[in-house]
Amino acid sequence: MNKVKNIVMLGFGDMGKGIAQVCLMAGYNVVAVDVNDELIKKGLDYNKTGFEKLESKGKLPKGVSVVEIMSRLSVGKNLIEASKDADLVIEAVVEKLNLKQKLCKDVMENSPDHCIFASNTSSMNITEIAKDCVKPQNVIGMHFFNPAPMMRLIEVIKGDKSSDEAMEIGVKVSESLPCLRGERYVARVLKSRPGFIVNRVLSPSSIYSNYILDLAYEKGIPWEQVDSDLSRPNAPMSLLTLADFTGRDIAYHGQLYYAEKLSPDYKPGKVLTMQYNEKKLGKKTGQGFYDWSKGRPQPDLSKKAGLVNSLVFAAINANEGCRILEEGVVDSWKVIDEAVLAGMNFPGPMKYAIEHYEELSELLEEYSEKLGKPYLKPCELLKTGKFVKMV
Ligand SMILES: NC(=O)c1ccc[n+]([C@@H]2O[C@H](COP(=O)([O-])OP(=O)(O)OC[C@H]3O[C@@H](n4cnc5c(N)ncnc54)[C@H](O)[C@@H]3O)[C@@H](O)[C@H]2O)c1
Repeated sequence: MNKVKNIVMLGFGDMGKGIAQVCLMAGYNVVAVDVNDELIKKGLDYNKTGFEKLESKGKLPKGVSVVEIMSRLSVGKNLIEASKDADLVIEAVVEKLNLKQKLCKDVMENSPDHCIFASNTSSMNITEIAKDCVKPQNVIGMHFFNPAPMMRLIEVIKGDKSSDEAMEIGVKVSESLPCLRGERYVARVLKSRPGFIVNRVLSPSSIYSNYILDLAYEKGIPWEQVDSDLSRPNAPMSLLTLADFTGRDIAYHGQLYYAEKLSPDYKPGKVLTMQYNEKKLGKKTGQGFYDWSKGRPQPDLSKKAGLVNSLVFAAINANEGCRILEEGVVDSWKVIDEAVLAGMNFPGPMKYAIEHYEELSELLEEYSEKLGKPYLKPCELLKTGKFVKMV
């Protein structure tokens, strides 16, 4: 089934260079296509130095040298030319729908009949991306997590018109890609819905976080104390440090996206809106929750604010897991838990909910009233506990 040999990596930025690395390690030939000379050079350097490090640690595949593996990587700017011999094009250009649609159309008109176009979009609908192309049956999503060589999860997404064969090829190729930290996990996403699996299940946590942040701001409680409430013990970074690191603009746009697609209850809260308007975006502007001007902050988490009930997060995430089961995005709660573990390195919400769904549902009724957010109400699958049978 998997006859893929030649892969075009379309977009050689942050994600593209990492995806190219694992494709090369799996033995594929890769042509990286980008429009930016500087980023092409950076991508080449990243791959070469990455392979040199792996070679010195004896971690390159058996019998493979840096010279051999780099001989299978070429770069260019001409997508039409590169598409001619492509079996699979993995697209990781900037997140703009009309650009992705155009590139998908160009690839499909200029590639062999069997060529698959797989988008690494984090949010866009695969059916929409395939809308104008001549072979929508060959278009799927392949959603990697950042950095692609380290994160175990790949979500392979079916658009309305994607064929079963295209999905199978996407899954087989994904399974063949090594992961430098643990075993690769490939999750099938049966419907292209916002956020796919992991981002979607975790997304409504922001509704409760916004409430907590706004409350703390009103009460003048220091961010360190709120951070101490919100952070997981032993996490490599506290939650608000991570929020600053990722960028408050990313959170702002993400919440607006879900507000448009799923529910207005996702709209950014007062604190996030203020941070966005005042350009207190975190690491990239030197100030967010914390001051980054002297490097990564080390918040003192010894004192808690006592504002957070962590069980509410567990309830919200389990409820969203049930929603994607109801929508047919996945057909098993186990896939949700495995995907969250592989994509985020912490356990998914569903297993806990099996024995506690009644309590979690009551909590959601209470908090949806308290916050004035109807989206937090428990859905039928959670309330009835019927998701338990969907293994
Ligand atoms: N960064 C993440 O954490 C992450 C995680 C999962 C998915 N994604 C998705 O992956 C995609 C890429 O994200 P990124 O973070 O790598 O972005 P990036 O900005 O680092 O890279 C995008 C690349 O696309 C190139 N590009 C722009 N127009 C092009 C064109 N017409 N032809 C070829 N190349 C073109 C740019 O020059 C750049 O190198 C986005 O769709 C994003 O949503 C990102």
